[in-house]
Amino acid sequence: MHDVLRRLHAGQRRKGTTIDYFRLNEVVSQIAFGGRRGQVYRWIVSLAEVGPGDSVLDIGCSGGYLARKLAAAAGPGGHVTGVDPSQGAIAYARRRALPAMTFTVGTAQDLGLPDAAFDVVTCTLAVHHIPARKRQAAFGEMYRVTRPGGRLLVADFDPSRRPFPLHPGAQRMRRAAATVGPLEVLAATSGYQVEATGDLSLLRYLLAVRPAR
Ligand SMILES: C[S@@+](CC[C@H](N)C(=O)[O-])C[C@H]1O[C@@H](n2cnc3c(N)ncnc32)[C@H](O)[C@@H]1O
Repeated sequence: MHDVLRRLHAGQRRKGTTIDYFRLNEVVSQIAFGGRRGQVYRWIVSLAEVGPGDSVLDIGCSGGYLARKLAAAAGPGGHVTGVDPSQGAIAYARRRALPAMTFTVGTAQDLGLPDAAFDVVTCTLAVHHIPARKRQAAFGEMYRVTRPGGRLLVADFDPSRRPFPLHPGAQRMRRAAATVGPLEVLAATSGYQVEATGDLSLLRYLLAVRPAR
């Protein structure tokens, strides 16, 4: 398993932070969640309170697994945008897109999307890929594109636990939490009001709101 994880992150060593082995990432995720990945991601959609007509942004969307669940909740009147630096993952996500979905190549720290455009922003298992020195900028971008009153749902490895100690991402979350702070500090510093934090299988989640004007 350690070799598989190292291979999965080989793209990161070559290209900065991108996972190009996104199909392998799907398999590793299923194994890591003990076959309950679908259930965990449905909880994420529910925690983010995505509803019909919502405009949703999924950052670090990879092949679009969560984005398709978000699109199902947003319905035909909603829209889901997925962003990921991996061109291969974005091409795959576009091939599998439902109606009212858009996928673009980009990074969390430089989204290239309009201000206040989204009711809900999600980011799952991608923060640990963002270099620590760029994480505050990434949360600043999340805040910028969330509409006043809109929500942010971030879920990633819990830096205070050792649920999957061999995973390089889990180790990176622990190191970064010690320098730039945990998710709630990054979110609050950007202007969000933190509503809740909690455990979600092997992840820790944060739910925050951009205060209404
Ligand atoms: C472990 S995958 C998680 C994919 C998906 N969100 C999920 O929960 O299954 C991490 C993703 O983050 C992407 N990523 C890496 N660096 C990023 C960055 N700076 N901004 C946004 N996404 C990034 C990778 O390309 C990869 O697709």
